[in-house]
Amino acid sequence: SKPSADNLRSPICCIMGHVDTGKTKLLDCIRRTNVQEGEAGGITQQIGATYFPAENIRERTKELKEDATLRVPGLLVIDTPGHESFANLRSRGSGLCDIAILVVDIMHGLEPQTIESLNLLKMRNTNFIIALNKVDRLYGWKTCPDGPIVKTMKQQSNDVQNEFKMRVKDIINQFQMEGLNTELYYKNKKMGETLSIVPTSAISGEGVPDLLLLLVLWTQQKTMVERFMFSNRVQCTVLEIKVIEGLGTTIDVVLVNGVLHEKDQIVVCGMQGPIVTTIRALLTPHPMKELRIKGSYVHHKEIKAAQGIKITGQGLEHAIPGTALYVVGPDGDLDDAKEAAMEDMNSVMSRIDKSGEGVCVQASTLGSLEALLEFLKSPAVNIPVSGISIGPVHKKDVVKASVMLEKRKEYATILAFDVKVTPEASALADEMGVKILIADIIYHLFDQFKAYIDHIKE
Ligand code: GTP
Ligand code: MG
Ligand code: NA
Repeated sequence: SKPSADNLRSPICCIMGHVDTGKTKLLDCIRRTNVQEGEAGGITQQIGATYFPAENIRERTKELKEDATLRVPGLLVIDTPGHESFANLRSRGSGLCDIAILVVDIMHGLEPQTIESLNLLKMRNTNFIIALNKVDRLYGWKTCPDGPIVKTMKQQSNDVQNEFKMRVKDIINQFQMEGLNTELYYKNKKMGETLSIVPTSAISGEGVPDLLLLLVLWTQQKTMVERFMFSNRVQCTVLEIKVIEGLGTTIDVVLVNGVLHEKDQIVVCGMQGPIVTTIRALLTPHPMKELRIKGSYVHHKEIKAAQGIKITGQGLEHAIPGTALYVVGPDGDLDDAKEAAMEDMNSVMSRIDKSGEGVCVQASTLGSLEALLEFLKSPAVNIPVSGISIGPVHKKDVVKASVMLEKRKEYATILAFDVKVTPEASALADEMGVKILIADIIYHLFDQFKAYIDHIKE
């Protein structure tokens, strides 16, 4: 079938911005979940994906506009980390999306990762909306749970309205300095030329209906809609590799276009070459639930784009996140698919120090391993890496790290990020003099390593 405006896929919307501006909390507010409160250190360290069916969007926006026409089946929202260490995940997220929400804290204005996110969006020509979040922090704010923003603003005192105007004006000026025209969405007469600002509170929900409706109606505009026409050509990106109890190694993917079926033959880029396998199970979280949070999954025979999907299949443990997944159709050529898959080979291996001197790093997912390598490589940190691994620290990892004892004792260290250490590995490390540093926040590993080096030098 030819792509047409009568058969649209769900648009993919990436949520970006500086750390702690309320990206995850905004999604929690829409989902009615508590993902943010369960995050280590209150920071997001992985890409997430949540599917919002059109009927849920209708429900949340009916007070604002009861008769809105929603032609897309839903919206797939990608959550990204704001912490500076995760630039690679922001880049991956922004590379996947059709549109974006840039979240700015009304009390802070533009911050370093706001600008970084802006530049990523500009570079890829991605259209975006600004959520000016935490309006409830304006002094004297009167809460109107889930209220449309114009109606809510009318109920605020003059002082609150004045502070709001002053802060909005200031933030519009800050965007101007970055070369962008912005305006409150309900005053914006030139959508497209001028970016829309939607004031929101992720805690009490004011402005959230406006944000949802604006997003959906905007993707349905003539100039945008072509992008969302459904096509049978599979376009799919691997987000993360995870070992899940009862399922074994799984890959989380974002299906951008096309359909995936159970038993499809697929090819993904692997550390040791192309991985050819068959989809054993196609799983999604329930609608309005986060893919990155462990929960119960829905099994599918086939899934239409766009969706965040967990795939199980043999041999996926060496897949590399951020690379494309290919389907070999009945008339497709396996060798072509293999070649295409390997073109995407990213630079993970090239980050390992060629001199062979450096610490060993170990992380729960390849995505977080990449983030960790990125962080260790940054000039302020600059710790060389000689070996990498994924999953729990076992005895063999300790033996591998112990090679450094002869060369540079301080490098006989395993930096373990968000992974368990088996008791046997721990005992062996003590015996051999290998140091294992464990943390679930990336920069804590650096602090610990620095303290350890200082201790050795004494
Ligand atoms: P990272 O993913 O780590 O970059 O942060 P984030 O942008 O996802 O922010 P997060 O949702 O973790 O929120 C950060 C903090 O701000 C949390 O303590 C939230 O409770 C708080 N917060 C988020 N949104 C609002 C809001 O609208 N109003 C108020 N008062 N607090 C908020
Ligand atoms: Mg977050
Ligand atoms: Na946070």
